[in-house]
Amino acid sequence: MRYYPTFFDLRDRPALLVGGGETAARKLRLLRKSGAAVTLVAPEATPEIRDLAEAGAIDWQRRGFAPGDLDGKALVHAASDAPEADRAVAAAAAARGLPVNVVDDPGASSFIMPAIVDRDPIVIGISSGGSAPVLARRLRERIESLLPARLGKLAAFAERFRGAVKATQAPAARRGFWERVFDGPIARKVLAGDEQGASEAMISAINRQPANDAAPPVGAVHIVGAGPGDPDLLTLKALRLIQDADVILYDKLVGPEIVELARRDAERVYVGKSKGNHSLPQERINALIAERAEAGQRVVRLKGGDPFVFGRGGEELLSLRARGIEAEVVPGITAAAACAAASGIPLTHRGLARGVNFVTGHAEDGEPDLDWPALADGRQTLAIYMGVSTAGTLMRRLLEAGAEPARPLAVIEKGTRPDQRVLTGTLGGLEALVREAAVEGPAMIILGEVAALAAGRPATPQEAAPSRALAL
Ligand SMILES: C[S@@+](CC[C@H](N)C(=O)[O-])C[C@H]1O[C@@H](n2cnc3c(N)ncnc32)[C@H](O)[C@@H]1O
Repeated sequence: MRYYPTFFDLRDRPALLVGGGETAARKLRLLRKSGAAVTLVAPEATPEIRDLAEAGAIDWQRRGFAPGDLDGKALVHAASDAPEADRAVAAAAAARGLPVNVVDDPGASSFIMPAIVDRDPIVIGISSGGSAPVLARRLRERIESLLPARLGKLAAFAERFRGAVKATQAPAARRGFWERVFDGPIARKVLAGDEQGASEAMISAINRQPANDAAPPVGAVHIVGAGPGDPDLLTLKALRLIQDADVILYDKLVGPEIVELARRDAERVYVGKSKGNHSLPQERINALIAERAEAGQRVVRLKGGDPFVFGRGGEELLSLRARGIEAEVVPGITAAAACAAASGIPLTHRGLARGVNFVTGHAEDGEPDLDWPALADGRQTLAIYMGVSTAGTLMRRLLEAGAEPARPLAVIEKGTRPDQRVLTGTLGGLEALVREAAVEGPAMIILGEVAALAAGRPATPQEAAPSRALAL
C-alpha cells in the first residue's frame, strides 16, 4: 500500500489554506466540517469565502503566501490553482515537516485526499493512491447509492446508547446485542426517521436484558461457495457472510482477494488440500468446523465454486448434522458455468447439445471411474473437472467408447482470473494439447460441439445457424 490510510483530528487545530478560488472553497468546506481553525491566504476570494471571513468563521489574510503563514499550523492545503506557487508552498511546508496537500499534485503532496462518502460520523474514504482518481470517484458513487442517507443518524443514535449498553450487557453479549439492533427494527426505525420510536424500542431492549446476562454463545455454520476466482462473481449473500464471519476456513481454490474481504479481526484458517499433499484430512476439517461452531463462533466454510459440485460440501454438511449442528449451504458459481461464460461457450445450445454432464477426471486408483459409452454420446456437452492429470486416459477411453476424434473441445485454465487461458482443439489431440501448453490448472475441459463456439475462434456459417449436427 503506497499511502497510509488515516483520519486526522483537526477540531480547533490551526490549518492553513492557500488559495481563494473555487478549488480552495471546496477544501474550505471540508476543513470547516472537521472543525479546523482555518487561516486562508489569498489576494482575492470567492463570495462564499468573503462571507465566511466577514462572519468571522475564518481568518482571511488578503495577500500572497509568506513562509511565516506556516507558523503553528497543523496541516496545509495549497489550492491556489497556480502550480508553481502551490509547489513553493508545499516545499516550505515540507521543510518544516508539516503535512501538506497540493490539489491534483500527489508528487508535491505528503498526503492525498480520498474521495469520500460522508454520512457523518460515518465517513468512507476511497483512494486509488493517485493512480486513478476517476475510478475512485466512480466507486464513491456506487457506495453512495448503496448506503442509506440516514446512516450517520444511526451511528449517532448508537453513540447515545453506548454507555447504557456497556453498563447493562455483559461483554460476551454486547456484540450480539448491537447486531440485533443494527439488523432489526430499531435500526429500521432510525433510518426511516422515527428516532422517538427507535429510542423507546432501544430502552426496552436494554431493560429486557438483565445486567451481566452473558447469553450462551450461539454459533452458526455456513458452507459457502466462493465461485471460480473472480471476486465479482461472489453472491451478495456470500459476501455478507464472509464479512460477518468470526472464522473462515478456506480451500486452495479460494484466492486471497476473496479471503481479504473478511473482517480484519476474523481468523482465516487455510485447510486447503493440494494434489498429493493433503494438508488436513477431511475428518479433521469436519471436526474443526464443529468445534468452532460449538465455541459460539460464526463459521464460514468457504469453498471454491459451488460447495455441492465436486466440493465435498455434502460430507461436511452430513458430518455437522451428525453432531447436531445445522448448517446453511450458500451456492456459488461452479467452475463449469463460470469457465463456459468466460470463454463464450454455451454449455447447451439448440442444435448442438441437448444436455450437459458434469464429471470428474479425478482418479482414485489410476483411472477415472466413469461410464465411458454414455459419455461418448456426442449429443451432450461434457464438463470435466480435475481432468488435466488424467487427460490422456480420458481421451483414450472416450475414443475407445466410440467418441469422434474430431469432437471439439476447449481447456479453460484459471477461468475468470486475470491469467485465464483458453485452449481449443479436438478430442483426438487432448493429451498433446494439455502437455504442449503445460496446463497447470485449475482447468476445466469442455468437450462437445459447443466448444467450437469458443470466443476468439472465427464462427463458421454452420455455427451461426446451428441446425446441422443434431435433431434435438
Ligand atoms: C475440487 S474441484 C472443486 C470444484 C468446485 N466445487 C466448483 O464447483 O467449481 C476442483 C476443480 O474445479 C475446476 N476449477 C475450479 N476453479 C476453476 C477455475 N477458476 N478455472 C478452471 N477450472 C476450475 C478444476 O477442474 C479443478 O481441478
